[in-house]
Amino acid sequence: MNSRFRFLGLVALLLLIAWTGTISVSAKRAAKYVGSEDCAVCHEDTHPEIIKAHAKTLHSQAMFDVEKNPKSIVATFTPDAPIKKSDIKYVLGSGKVYQNYLDKNFKVLPAKWLVKEKKWVKQQPVDGLTQCVGCHVTNFDPAIKKWTELGVGCEACHGPGAVHADSQDPKDIINPKNLNQKRLNMVCGQCHAVGTDPSGKYAYSPTFVPGDDLSKHFKLTDAGPGAANSQYNTFLESKHEAGGQKCTSCHEPHGVNAKGPKQLRSSVNDLCLACHTMKLGDTDAVKDLKSHAPNAAPDATCASCHMEGNSHAFKKASSN
Ligand code: HEC
Ligand code: HEC
Ligand code: HEC
Ligand code: HEC
Ligand code: HEC
Ligand code: HEC
Ligand code: HEC
Repeated sequence: MNSRFRFLGLVALLLLIAWTGTISVSAKRAAKYVGSEDCAVCHEDTHPEIIKAHAKTLHSQAMFDVEKNPKSIVATFTPDAPIKKSDIKYVLGSGKVYQNYLDKNFKVLPAKWLVKEKKWVKQQPVDGLTQCVGCHVTNFDPAIKKWTELGVGCEACHGPGAVHADSQDPKDIINPKNLNQKRLNMVCGQCHAVGTDPSGKYAYSPTFVPGDDLSKHFKLTDAGPGAANSQYNTFLESKHEAGGQKCTSCHEPHGVNAKGPKQLRSSVNDLCLACHTMKLGDTDAVKDLKSHAPNAAPDATCASCHMEGNSHAFKKASSN
C-alpha cells in the first residue's frame, strides 16, 4: 500500500470515528430539539456557506455563559464600576451597541455598558428569566430554566429538528421560504417584537414555534418610537407589509449573500432604489438620492429619513 492509500485509509478511519460520534448524539434526539452543532454535522457538507455565515451573525452571539466565554464581556472594569465582574454569569448581546449582564439567578445587573461611549448607564434590575432570556437563546423553557443552546440557533427559525435530523427528509423541517408572508414574518417577529405572552408574565412567548400564528402566543404592546427590537411592531403599519414584503425581502437570514450591513441583501440605497425608481401605486418614483433629497447630509441613506429610530413603518419623511 503506498502512502497515498494509507492516507486515505486514515481518512476513512477518522470518518468512521466521526460517524460513530454522531450516533452517540442520538440519545439527545429523543428531545425535539437537537441544537445547531447537530444540524452542522450534515449541513456542513450540503450547505457549508450557511454554517459559516450563521456563525458570524449576531444571532449566534446573542447570549454567552461567562465561564465558557470569559472574553464575551466587552466592558471595562475600574474599581468604581457600578457592578462587580464576579457577579456576572451571563452576557446579553454581542457587544455592538450595548451589553447587559445577568447574575446566577438571572437577575439583570443594575448597569449596562455602552460600547461606543465606553461608559456605564443605569439599568432596571428586572427578572431576566421572565423579561429577557427567551429571545436570546433557542427553545427556552422558563419553568425548568433550560434551553437547547445559547444564542439564536438554527431551530429558532426552522423549528424543532429532531425528526428531520433522523429522517433527513426535507419535509420534516420548516424551510421558512415555504411559509406564507405573514407566517414568515412571525418567525422573525417572535423576537423582533415588543409585547407579552397572553398571561402578561413574559416579555416573549414561551410557546411559539416557527409556522405558528404568533398572534395566538404573543400580544403586541405599544413600543414607542425607537424602542429596541420593535421592528415587527412597526413593520405591521407599513405599506411594505400590506404590499406583501417579508423580512427576508431585504434581510438575508444567514448572511450568505449579504452585501450590506445588518444582514441586508445589498447596501441600503441600492435596496430601496431597486423598487423605487418606478412609480408604485400612489407612491411617486425616486430617480436617485441626489435629486430626491438635495439637502441631505453627504453620508445620508434612504434610511436616514425614512427609518428614523430604526422604524420599519417606512413612512414618508416629514422634512428634508
Ligand atoms: C443526518 C443529516 C441531517 C441533519 C442532522 C440535519 N439535516 Fe437538514 N437536510 C438533510 C438532507 C439530506 C436534506 C435534503 C437535501 C438538501 O436539501 O441538501 C436536508 C434539508 C434541509 C433543509 C431544506 C428543506 C427544504 O425545504 O428543501 C433545511 C431547512 C434543513 N435541512 C435544516 C436543518 C436543520 C435546522 C437541522 C438541525 C435541526 C438539520 N437540517 C439537520 C440532512 C440533515
Ligand atoms: C430567537 C430570537 C430571534 C429570532 C427568531 C430572530 N432574531 Fe434577529 N436577532 C435576535 C437578537 C437577540 C439579535 C441581537 C443579537 C446581538 O446583538 O447580540 C438579533 C439581531 C438581528 C439583526 C441585526 C444584525 C446586525 O448586524 O445588526 C437582524 C438584521 C436580524 N436579527 C434579523 C432577523 C430576521 C430577518 C429574522 C427572521 C428570519 C430574525 N432576525 C429572527 C433575535 C432573533
Ligand atoms: C434568523 C433565522 C434563521 C436562522 C437562525 C437559521 N435560518 Fe436557515 N433559513 C432561514 C430562512 C428565512 C430561510 C429561507 C431562505 C430565504 O428565504 O432566503 C432559510 C433557509 C435555510 C435552508 C435552505 C436553503 C435553500 O437554499 O433553500 C437551509 C438548509 C437552512 N436554512 C439551514 C440552516 C441551518 C443549518 C442553520 C443553523 C446553522 C440555520 N439555517 C439558521 C432562517 C434562518
Ligand atoms: C421579545 C424578544 C426580546 C426580549 C424579551 C429581550 N430582547 Fe434583547 N434583543 C432582542 C432583539 C431582537 C435584539 C436585536 C434587535 C434590536 O436591538 O433592535 C436584541 C438586542 C439586545 C442587546 C444587544 C444590543 C446591541 O445591539 O448591542 C442586548 C444587550 C439586549 N438585547 C438585552 C436585553 C435585556 C437586558 C432584556 C431584558 C430586560 C432583553 N434584551 C429582552 C430581543 C429581545
Ligand atoms: C424594505 C426593506 C426591509 C424590510 C422588508 C425589513 N427591513 Fe429590517 N432593515 C432594513 C434596513 C434598510 C435596515 C438598516 C437601517 C439603517 O441603516 O439605519 C434594517 C435594519 C434592521 C435591523 C437592525 C436594527 C439595528 O438597530 O441595527 C433589524 C434587527 C431588522 N431590520 C429586522 C427586520 C425584521 C424583523 C423585519 C420584518 C418584520 C424587517 N427587518 C424587514 C430594511 C428592511
Ligand atoms: C420590493 C420592492 C420595494 C423595496 C425593496 C422597497 N420598497 Fe418602499 N414601497 C414599495 C411599495 C410597493 C410601496 C407602496 C406603494 C403604494 O401602494 O403606494 C412602497 C412604499 C414606500 C413608501 C411610502 C410609504 C407611505 O406610507 O406612503 C416609502 C417612504 C418607502 N416605500 C420607502 C422605502 C425605503 C426607504 C426602502 C429601502 C429601505 C424601500 N422603500 C424599499 C416597494 C418597495
Ligand atoms: C434627507 C431626507 C431624505 C432622504 C435621504 C430620502 N428621502 Fe425620500 N422623502 C423625503 C421627504 C421629506 C419625502 C416627502 C416628500 C413629499 O411629501 O412629497 C420623501 C418621500 C419619499 C417617498 C414617497 C414619494 C411620494 O409618493 O410622495 C419615497 C418612496 C421615498 N421618499 C423614497 C426614498 C428613497 C428610495 C430614498 C433613498 C434613495 C430616499 N427617499 C431618501 C426625505 C428623504
